[in-house]
Amino acid sequence: MTRVVLVTGASSGIGLATAIAAAKAGFTTVGTVRSGGAKLLAAAAAARVSIDVRQLELTSQTSIESCVDDVVHTHGRLDALVNNAGIANSSPTLELSTMDLLRRQLEVNFFGVVATSRAAMPHLRSTRGRLLTVSSVRGVLGQPFNEAYSAAKFAVEGFMEALAPVAASVGVTVSLIEPAAVLDTSFVASSTLDPAQVLASSGPYEAAFRAYRSWVASGAVEGAQTSSEVASVIVEALNCEDPALRIPTSDYARGYLSRKLRDPSGRDLLAMTRGWITPAEPALR
Ligand SMILES: NC(=O)c1ccc[n+]([C@@H]2O[C@H](COP(=O)([O-])OP(=O)(O)OC[C@H]3O[C@@H](n4cnc5c(N)ncnc54)[C@H](OP(=O)(O)O)[C@@H]3O)[C@@H](O)[C@H]2O)c1
Repeated sequence: MTRVVLVTGASSGIGLATAIAAAKAGFTTVGTVRSGGAKLLAAAAAARVSIDVRQLELTSQTSIESCVDDVVHTHGRLDALVNNAGIANSSPTLELSTMDLLRRQLEVNFFGVVATSRAAMPHLRSTRGRLLTVSSVRGVLGQPFNEAYSAAKFAVEGFMEALAPVAASVGVTVSLIEPAAVLDTSFVASSTLDPAQVLASSGPYEAAFRAYRSWVASGAVEGAQTSSEVASVIVEALNCEDPALRIPTSDYARGYLSRKLRDPSGRDLLAMTRGWITPAEPALR
């Protein structure tokens, strides 16, 4: 009997790499896309594995439910769900954002994950399966100018942390996958945020936003991994006897998370994130 895994957002990046790695590891693998699927099928052909490509839109309850039902109808069971699909931050900071942009972020990155998990849960219960969600270190530590993204991932973290003991009582293991930056994905391109436009209308936040942009540009996005590296950690979690609730995907990500967990007052953390958005002092002449 082969185990069946459903990976959402498998058209690119971490989801595509995870679908390929899971299929290589012997899982019957279903990868979801919003449309097309040619890139995933080409990657599967190149890796000489077979992937069942399905359509799933996270903002549509009907799409989610019919995808999960069809998977179980075709394959007879569901052993693991990897909630991977998500979008990058598309909302500038609070005052510069709109309620629609803020809600959209939560709709996809939080309610989409909850709806998919809810549809999968009865099937995971019957296989005593795995519920894995790709969160982010930004879901543990708030990133300036990424409030909406951090909020959605914090919501995912809280939801899954609270669900974990309840799910365990019916035999389902809940885990959060915690990558830091992963550069070989379509993630940044998925953001509709135009930095030049934000800058032009940033008013009192201009200096902080400029400093943040130069912090990002100066390579301060440290500890980057490839999507294949993250995929190996996910497949390890699928195979592991007793996976942890939080699974950092690298030592860098582990260090990042521990900064939050060892600083309950948040003072050290704020000193660090304020440093990211504070304009550098002009050099002394
Ligand atoms: N890249 C990073 O630095 C990083 C770091 C930490 C965590 N993560 C998390 O990793 C996960 C995967 O991101 P990635 O970096 O691999 O980015 P990616 O290459 O952009 O992949 C995102 C996937 O999600 C799908 N998706 C987006 N909106 C969707 C919707 N409304 N309904 C269904 N599917 C949707 C995309 O489909 P389309 O092709 O149709 O858009 C794509 O397949 C995300 O949850 C992200 O938050 C990423």
